[in-house]
Amino acid sequence: MSFDRSIKIAPSILAADFANFGAECAAIEAQGADWVHVDVMDGHFVPNITFGPATCAAIRPHIKGVMDVHLMIAPVDPYIEAFAKAGADLITAHVEAGPHIHRTLQAIRGAGAKAGVALNPGTPASAVSELLDNVDLVCVMTVNPGFGGQKFIDMTAKIRSLREMIGDRPVHIEIDGGVDPVTAPMVANAGADVLVAGSAVFRGGSVRNPAPYGENIRAIREAAAGTYV
Ligand code: DX5
Ligand code: ZN
Repeated sequence: MSFDRSIKIAPSILAADFANFGAECAAIEAQGADWVHVDVMDGHFVPNITFGPATCAAIRPHIKGVMDVHLMIAPVDPYIEAFAKAGADLITAHVEAGPHIHRTLQAIRGAGAKAGVALNPGTPASAVSELLDNVDLVCVMTVNPGFGGQKFIDMTAKIRSLREMIGDRPVHIEIDGGVDPVTAPMVANAGADVLVAGSAVFRGGSVRNPAPYGENIRAIREAAAGTYV
């Protein structure tokens, strides 16, 4: 996983066919996805349940590129090893998920994965100011986590602050929630480089008819680059 600030589209399989994850991952990659975003929810930190490390391990062989695992769970630390062993390239934990985020991030890197920290909409950029040398990615939630298909919450001021705080460090800014061709340019202009999108990628397509995935990914990428008309 080399670092650059080019726009990367990371479809969230939360919007995929849950009975067909392997084929869905292969389809979105074939249609131009840069990363695959995997949303893990525990029904405790967030009011919804998805799946755990066994499903991540089952999905892994179907992903050629980066497997980006977003943990919406509390506690996090007892499960880090399992998600790393499942083959996550990047593991993101929420700053709100416990009292010792610094320890969590150390444990993620210690387990051999890249470390991400996520911020809920109500959490200020300053919550990660002391963590920027301990992370590879900051995820700015533009919805309250738990569900796909929610309305985008404008966090562009927070993204700009983070971009300034990060400076020359090799730290990605990822945006998660309500990203589509309308909101993508707002967050890209503010300094984001990884755009997670669930419903805006999977709408209109299926594993049998994956071409719409490609059109949707292209529309978001081109919008973010300012060339979409
Ligand atoms: C929300 C998840 C997101 C979500 C994005 O809790 O972390 O990854 O699936 O879905 P859309 O793009 O539909 O808002
Ligand atoms: Zn997510």
